Formats: sequence, C-alpha cells, structure tokens
Amino acid sequence: TTSKKFRTALLQWNKLDNKRQMPWKGEKDPYKIWLSEIILQQTRVEQGWAYYERFIERFPTVQQLAAARDEQAFKLWEGLGYYNRCKNLLFTARYITENYNGRFPDSYPDIVALKGVGPYTAAAIASFAFNLPYAVLDGNVFRVLSRVFGIDIPIDSTQGKTLFAELAQETLDDTRAGEFNQAIMDFGATVCKPLAPLCTVCPMRHFCEAYRHGNVNVLPVKQKV
Ligand code: ADE
Repeated sequence: TTSKKFRTALLQWNKLDNKRQMPWKGEKDPYKIWLSEIILQQTRVEQGWAYYERFIERFPTVQQLAAARDEQAFKLWEGLGYYNRCKNLLFTARYITENYNGRFPDSYPDIVALKGVGPYTAAAIASFAFNLPYAVLDGNVFRVLSRVFGIDIPIDSTQGKTLFAELAQETLDDTRAGEFNQAIMDFGATVCKPLAPLCTVCPMRHFCEAYRHGNVNVLPVKQKV
C-alpha cells in the first residue's frame, strides 16, 4: 500500500539524508517540547530558535517558569508577538506545578486539556516526549500527504480535515511515532517544499500521485483565501 511505502521511504530518508538540525530535535523533556511547540505555533523556526534557547537557559524546568515573575517571561518573549502565548505558558506552568506536582502530564487527554495546547501541539508533545501514537497535522503534513496520495479535497473543508486526520493516523508508524512525526515535518520543510519541491531527488517520486499526474504545484488545495 502507499501508506506502507510512505512509512518505509520516510524513515529511510530520515536516517540517511535528513540533515536538518534544530535545538529541540530529539528532545524528550515534555516541558522543553511544549515550549518549542508554543513558540513554533506562530513563529518561523529561524526566528524561534534563539528565543527557545534563551527561555530554556533562564527557565530550565516547568517549576522555575512557574516561579517566574510575569515580567521576566514577557521580557524574554519580546519581539515574538502574540503575547497570549506567553501568558498561557505562565498559567500552564503554574497549573502543572499546582495540579501535577510539577510533573508534565503524560497522557494525550491531559496534555490537550492544557491552556494554549490544541490537537496539533498535544500530538507533538505526546509523540516526541512519550512516543504515544498520535499523528501531527500541520501545514507540512497536509502538503506532503495531499501530494503523495494525490488528494485535491480542500484541506480546510470539513471533509478534508476528517480525511487528512484519518490518513495521517493510518500512515503514522505507531511504534515510532515521535521519529515519524519529526521526519514528516522535516521532509515537508526541506524536500516536499511549498515552492520548488525537490521531486527529482525525492524518495517518494516512484509512488507519488501528484508527481505522476504533474500537479505537485497545485497541491494542497485550500478553499479559503
Ligand atoms: N514546527 C512545529 N513543530 C516543529 C518541529 N518539531 N520541527 C520543525 N518544525 C516544527
């Protein structure tokens, strides 16, 4: 099946050809993963990188962030915008300290219940920190799946959201969820790019539906402008 070929090709590419480095990659501490994913919700990797490093240096644990004065955290956030993210970080760090004795929750339902954490961020934390089998669905994943499986249903339609969520979950290697989720994001960012994707060297070109039909550049389809 295409899902099986996809999994095999992605993990092989990840092992041999994925050269992408980021400070949170391979991180197992759910606090650090949470912080990186909150930053990356509305900030590009290149910009978020240094903010993440300064935040971790100043607040190495969730308890230390919980004990911060609000102004200290806001000062470190300066320039990132969307300050509600920083407010939620402080609120949630204190919530975890109060309600979980400072231990980050380790089940998907508990993680997705945290303020500022939606299904995408919860899947990232659950899979990277605890290897729980939840597929991430971000812009990279929509693009890669829509192209390889040749799906032109708008990704922001009700039908599209359901279909892509099912497809992502079915394609996930659920024994290596963290590795798979990071690999598909890196693959979307460096090979299956929005503009000028590297189809000639892509390990999926032999079974990619969009490549076969020559419509890589029109996928993914969005209905809203
Ligand atoms: N965007 C959001 N999370 C990411 C991650 N873990 N790696 C790369 N890009 C991301």
